[in-house]
Amino acid sequence: MTNEALNALLQDLTLEEKVAQLCQIDMSTFLADAGSPTGPMLEFNLTREQIVSAGSLICGANADAEKFAQIHETIRKESRHGIPPLIMSDVIHGMRTTFPIPLALACTFDENEAETMARVSAKEASACGVHVTFSPMLDVCRDPRWGRCMESPGESPALCGAMGAAMVRGYRGDDLKQKGTMATCAKHYAGYALCEAGRDYAPVDISRTEMYNTYLPPFKAALDAGCDMVMPAFTPVDRVPAAANRWLMHDILRERWHWDGMTITDWGSVGELYLHHLASDAKDASVRCFKAGTDMDMMSFAYFSGLKEAVEDGTVSIEELDAAVLRVLELKNKLGLFEDPNHGATGEEQLAMRGRHEHRLAALQAALKSCVLLKNDGVLPLHSGMKVALTGDHADSHRLLGAWQADGREEETPSLADVFSKDGRVAIVTPGEADVIIYAVGEDQDDVGESASKLNPALTAQQKADLEQLCATGKPVVMVLFCGRPLMIQEDASRCNAVLNAWFPGSEGAEAIRQLLMGDVNPSGHLSMTFPRCVGQIPIHHDQLSTGRPTEPENGRFISVYRDGSNKPLYPFGYGLSYTTFDFSTAEADGDALLDDTPVTLTVQVTNTGDRAGETVVQLYFRGRRLTHMEPLRTLLQWKRISLEAGESTAVSFTVRKSDLQTWDHDGQPVEASGMYDFYIGEDSLARQSAVILVK
Ligand code: BGC
Repeated sequence: MTNEALNALLQDLTLEEKVAQLCQIDMSTFLADAGSPTGPMLEFNLTREQIVSAGSLICGANADAEKFAQIHETIRKESRHGIPPLIMSDVIHGMRTTFPIPLALACTFDENEAETMARVSAKEASACGVHVTFSPMLDVCRDPRWGRCMESPGESPALCGAMGAAMVRGYRGDDLKQKGTMATCAKHYAGYALCEAGRDYAPVDISRTEMYNTYLPPFKAALDAGCDMVMPAFTPVDRVPAAANRWLMHDILRERWHWDGMTITDWGSVGELYLHHLASDAKDASVRCFKAGTDMDMMSFAYFSGLKEAVEDGTVSIEELDAAVLRVLELKNKLGLFEDPNHGATGEEQLAMRGRHEHRLAALQAALKSCVLLKNDGVLPLHSGMKVALTGDHADSHRLLGAWQADGREEETPSLADVFSKDGRVAIVTPGEADVIIYAVGEDQDDVGESASKLNPALTAQQKADLEQLCATGKPVVMVLFCGRPLMIQEDASRCNAVLNAWFPGSEGAEAIRQLLMGDVNPSGHLSMTFPRCVGQIPIHHDQLSTGRPTEPENGRFISVYRDGSNKPLYPFGYGLSYTTFDFSTAEADGDALLDDTPVTLTVQVTNTGDRAGETVVQLYFRGRRLTHMEPLRTLLQWKRISLEAGESTAVSFTVRKSDLQTWDHDGQPVEASGMYDFYIGEDSLARQSAVILVK
């Protein structure tokens, strides 16, 4: 549709029809009677007109091309203009083919893996009729008590931004009109992961400086990559819920970033204003959110009446309303929905795309690169001819997909027992008969994700007791850990000979774990989030600010340490072992000063010093020693995944520009880099100092 036609359509809509375009309702409204609205929506007193002209439908695992075709037909027949609704769903790590959870995917440190996951998801989900995914989730996470860490690329703003941008590219492809693509929605803007004490939906208090430097940059990266929508968080900023926060939704998105895409609340956020005592009726609540810059109301049903009333009494102008409706219509137009409401989805296409062999191979590849080897005393890899015991809750479990699976199926997810029984090289025996025991243990997939906060994210008492018993056999024990966040495993890991963190690895997870344990593939994942030793250390992350006191216990009394334990993480951000070892030379810089237009390139020689091929992630961190502002002790800046044969050596270079080191002050003004900067290059965030460079 041309822009003129789109504007003409907008002008032809009644007030009710315009407001309806800004409302999202549940797809189930249409299901009970093959295309007719009914069911749960009745309790919200919506009229049939409102339902058939709603701007968007939300759906879950029930996405289905043929059902949507019927719904689109109903809407075409029953509404005045037959404007197709945007079909939105949470497809965050795969549709039928389920990839590792996003926190795991980030452990690949490989944007191509994120892009592939998104491309495969878009093919499978759009074939079912989904137009928009509520992904990428870009909450920078530092608190494992929060169950939603699993949805995020972890603790580093740079890594979150890079993975988020890659996902946006993958979902959207080159042109949203093409079939097999999906529009994207970055969430939860911004700072949700900082909910107090890790309790989901609890309040958040973030300084502006942290907002500008830590929590906003991943969103900016996703928007720069073409992200179509933004979803404000449930949580407040400056004591105002994000959906009603004009600074966040307008000043930053529209004025600072000049972004003109569409915004949508999170589930029921407009209605939550009543519970916050910030609004007393639907009009009040709608006005607060709409005026702040929130275009669409997800599942509060407040805009239908509240926004309409606000326009009628002049609180909201028709121009403001039109601008928001136009953003919705424009996204529909970008997707080509006025020509094909189903966006290429058909029953046959859905069947053809679902869980294809090449999609599962891509999920396998991602799982192989995202599992992180945390400990190994040499027991791994396993050898041919070994007698292996496979035990623990997850040994024969098909629940390896994690939360927020869209259409993933347990019956299509082999267990560890399934895949090992087909590996002729080892015999599966009881622990008593075994040469080595694999203890597959961790969280259940329903115990992570939204509303899954934990006071103590750790193995259960029973799981710990079982581990103790296994260790008492005197046999080597390999723990394969399943989790949606870092778990407090200090004691458990110390008991084991090896620990492989598999996270929730997806449809092909068991196969990936088999190949890694058997040494067919060398582990190469690196942690996207720090593993604390205990809950008391939380929040702990690689980019903490400096303290004015020493942080080592030997330095006296009034120092920044704990009386009853260490400051050091159990496993630092970026950490991950391999079956080989890599040696890093001292870095060489091609200049000793960074000027505006003169970047410096840092080069290290990395050598595979072991006896097998392997991959590692070479990471570059920096710390500014500015005289004006405090800076984190380390900030991840760049990384490169490399692959080396045994004995092979390669030069790895990072080019650093002055603008890469820029930060923001509390007003969001850029703070130019200046002074001495330390650079660290290595395989994790404890990498040694490699160069000191003067920035002028
Ligand atoms: C979650 C969002 C999600 C939405 C729609 C909410 O409860 O916070 O992440 O996209 O539901 O399912």
